[in-house]
Parts: sequence; C-alpha cells; structure tokens
Amino acid sequence: MVKWSDFERATIKDIFSKLDSGDVGRAALCRCLTVYPWTQRYFSKFGNLSSPDAIAANPKVAAHGKVVMGGLELAAKNLDDIKNSFKDLSILHSEKLQVDPDNFKLLADCITIVVAGQMGKAFTSEVHAAFEKFLAVAVSSLRKQYY
Ligand code: HEM
Repeated sequence: MVKWSDFERATIKDIFSKLDSGDVGRAALCRCLTVYPWTQRYFSKFGNLSSPDAIAANPKVAAHGKVVMGGLELAAKNLDDIKNSFKDLSILHSEKLQVDPDNFKLLADCITIVVAGQMGKAFTSEVHAAFEKFLAVAVSSLRKQYY
C-alpha cells in the first residue's frame, strides 16, 4: 500500500480545494491534445481539433477536462485506496476506449504544468514532489487493468 506523509496528504487536499478544476482540466487537456497530437485519435467525436485555437475553443474538450479532474478528485479523496477507486476507469480505458496507457503519463504531465503555472511560487519543490507522487499513483492505478 502507498504510504502518504501528513505533508503529502495536506498538500494534495489543498491543491484540490484551491484550484478551479474545470479550468485546470480544460487547459491540461488542450495542452495534451496540442503537444501530443496523436492523443486526438481517441476524441474523434469531439469535433474540431484542427489547431490549438480550435482545441481551446472546443466546448467538448473543456467539458471532458473537467470530467478528468473529477476522476482525480475522487482519487484525492481516497488516497489510501486509489487503485480500487480507479478500477472501473481502468477497465473503461483499457477494454472499451483502448487508450495506449503511455498517454496517461503525458496528460498527467500537462496537469502538473498547468497546476504549477496557476500556483506560481507556492508550487515549491516539496509541493511538486507530493503532487507528482499523487499523479504517479493515479496513473499506475489507471494502468492496472492492462496487465
Ligand atoms: C473518459 C479520467 C486519461 C481518453 C474518462 C472519464 C474519466 C477519465 C473520469 C469518464 C468516464 C465515464 O464516463 O465513466 C481520466 C484520467 C486520466 C485520463 C484521470 C489521466 C490522468 C486519458 C487519456 C486519454 C483518455 C490520456 C486519451 C489520450 C478518454 C476518452 C474518454 C475518457 C476517449 C471517453 C470520452 C467520452 O466519450 O466522452 N476519462 N482519463 N483518458 N477518457 Fe480518460
């Protein structure tokens, strides 16, 4: 089982309570679809993703970014059992959506960049380490049903 220090628990709680998850999710998913364009193939029913401006203006991207952050908020509330909380999501991404699991880390990195940008100086190296660990556990839990 993953062990969390008091600092890590407090930091993750703090990040999710302060940040606007809709804003973070939208910006992170936009970044992911732009920086790693092959990720667009999973979102063909989202409509126009033909340029960074089109991606940024696409309401389905914004809505889905919020959904992704909702998944991470659930994980943040269940730090001691993220694997179980993500069981259905892992099955969905592997069996139905057939998302290449390498992409989870790419989206997680985009989320880190957006959170760092929004938090500015408050995103210290200790905060970064705690958030990185949280995302690594979330990504590994999403990958679980692939093995
Ligand atoms: C759907 C979370 C990464 C592709 C979802 C849903 C959640 C979620 C909560 C909605 C599930 C439902 O409707 O029951 C996450 C999290 C991720 C992640 C927490 C990693 C941090 C990715 C990546 C891709 C992807 C990297 C593709 C590159 C999709 C697609 C859907 C979906 C295509 C269905 C969208 C729709 O039909 O509206 N994801 N996801 N996900 N995810 Fe992910």
